[in-house]
Amino acid sequence: PASTSRLGHGGLAVGAVPLTEIAERFGTPAYVLDEGEVRERCRTYRSAFPEAEVLYAAKAFLCRAMAHWVRDEGLGLDVCSAGELELAVTAGFPADRIVLHGNAKSPHDIEAALRLGVGRIVIDSPSEIARLAAAVGPGGHQKVMVRVVPGISAGGHDKIRTGTDDQKFGLSLTDGHAQHAIARILGQPQLELTGLHCHLGSQITTVKPYLSAVRRMVGLMARIRDTHGVVLPELDMGGGHGVAYRPGEDALDITTLARRMRTELVESCAAASLAVPRLLVEPGRAVAGPAGVALYRVLAVKRTGDNLFVAVDGGMSDNPRPALYGVRYAPRLIGRASTAPPSTATVVGRHCEAGDVLASGVDLPGDIHPGDLLAVPVAGAYQLSMASGYNMVGRPPVVAVADGHARLLVRRESLDDFRSRDIGL
Ligand code: LLP
Repeated sequence: PASTSRLGHGGLAVGAVPLTEIAERFGTPAYVLDEGEVRERCRTYRSAFPEAEVLYAAKAFLCRAMAHWVRDEGLGLDVCSAGELELAVTAGFPADRIVLHGNAKSPHDIEAALRLGVGRIVIDSPSEIARLAAAVGPGGHQKVMVRVVPGISAGGHDKIRTGTDDQKFGLSLTDGHAQHAIARILGQPQLELTGLHCHLGSQITTVKPYLSAVRRMVGLMARIRDTHGVVLPELDMGGGHGVAYRPGEDALDITTLARRMRTELVESCAAASLAVPRLLVEPGRAVAGPAGVALYRVLAVKRTGDNLFVAVDGGMSDNPRPALYGVRYAPRLIGRASTAPPSTATVVGRHCEAGDVLASGVDLPGDIHPGDLLAVPVAGAYQLSMASGYNMVGRPPVVAVADGHARLLVRRESLDDFRSRDIGL
């Protein structure tokens, strides 16, 4: 099931609400989230990984409703700041089901995590060990994991690869930094090391790197047992499960991934005579991405040379992904039928720079004109969560649809929002 969104399959409605109606009622640009699809994706994970703990990676997209859906479907949460953590906990997310990540946790992040009783904190650097132990205090107790870099290259783009030693996250397995940090953590009575963590990267579309990573991580767990006599009960394999942004692209099949990871884990553990640890996974994109659609209205159309530029009322301030990672989306005309022959178009945003391109080389009806509506499928992850205030355009609202009804979850950012922060002269 979990490959393309319903809109991607040719529908013009999300959650049984026509997208044109949403555009009329809430304005554009707007992000639309299908509550049913988010929940269904959570359930797919729960049934694919029945023995594992599934944590939704909040960085993909978080608001209070999202926290409720994910909580109610039995998932935990991966957060990487006090902001994500406090939003989730104040929305009623159980803190003990939350894992805090971060390569540079601030004193505020750590204070919030300890105050709210976060389930586990993932240690990412040697300097964090003593700092965290001191913050917990003598006689205190905190569960921790260690982020290990297994030395495996995977992921959809250089900027989102985290499995090798040439990037900032985690402690290297190959040069021994991970082993050294683990020894130090085991010497801190107030820190309980529950297991190891690794995250290979994002937008990974094959199973193989996960299997190699499982083998290496189990190897390290066996060495920890041999060296320290400690059998760690947990193994967190991170997220990174890829989705299809355009028709014909490959998504990682979650059921296959789960089955093959489980087999690899059981076999690797058997070979090392190690008790099988409890598995954790942290999908973000694959839960939220395909459940979202971005809606834009066309503001201007022009032909320059061979190029048809279609400019919409949003752009890199609500979706920086094409500019950052060269991602290709598949925008579609919605709201009217057109029999005009297709033109190859470049869909651009409204911002003050030439790199503000949302999609290039897309086929759109040749009679596309200002006022038309475009829908961009697979827009639920890493778009609004990475949106900015560039050009004071304001971030779009989030509309949830479920059972034929649309409701506003997050309102549009207004000029008053910008003004209210601008407090000095
Ligand atoms: N766990 C950890 C520790 C992570 O760092 C991440 C993502 C995830 C889980 C979730 O990964 P996912 O399943 O969503 O791939 N902004 C980029 C993606 C950055 C991902 C950062 N970490 C993009 O738009 O492609």
